[in-house]
Amino acid sequence: MKKVLILASGNGSNAENISKFLKKTDSGNQIKVLCNVKKAAVFEKMKNLNIPCLLIKNSINKCLIKECRDFQPDLIILAGYLKKIPIDLIEFFKKKIINIHPSLLPKYGGQGMYGDNVHNQVLLNQEKETGITIHYVNEKYDRGEIIFQKKTSLQNDETLNTIKAKIKNLEMKYFPIIIYQLLYVRKH
Ligand code: GAR
Repeated sequence: MKKVLILASGNGSNAENISKFLKKTDSGNQIKVLCNVKKAAVFEKMKNLNIPCLLIKNSINKCLIKECRDFQPDLIILAGYLKKIPIDLIEFFKKKIINIHPSLLPKYGGQGMYGDNVHNQVLLNQEKETGITIHYVNEKYDRGEIIFQKKTSLQNDETLNTIKAKIKNLEMKYFPIIIYQLLYVRKH
């Protein structure tokens, strides 16, 4: 039985995919989702899965630290969570906080680089490939140790939507696999 805390800020397709995977792996796994955006679609998705999803709004960092200390997760997963993680938490849960980023870091990372912003830059620069990066979280945006990357090639006629679809496919396929390895296989 593992305890996993997922942080999200938006649509929640990764949170949904990971939750389904973890429940299928072991129905005893405990999952809790925290979201900092009131109208985010992740609330509805979690409700449908019967997984608690809490809004953290005032004093986000304080709330986060309290939830983490109370719940004592084995892994904290940033799945489209767009706020910075407080340094106390990073130190307390060293190598237990991971993030997924929709580009091949260090390219197209850093503050303000999320979701469509990333893909638009990739398009603008006529990149021949893009991909996903899963990494540990440290005190700098998108700069923690890389755990996994997967590339996908890009054609001349790509659009924002075709790139998004390619990235989504990679995220849905590989994020659960890496989470499984971190929870059940790899020794930190
Ligand atoms: C995902 O594509 C994730 O890689 C990206 O936000 C999206 C969230 O989608 N994260 C970042 O850009 C972090 N810098 P979701 O809410 O549907 O899972």
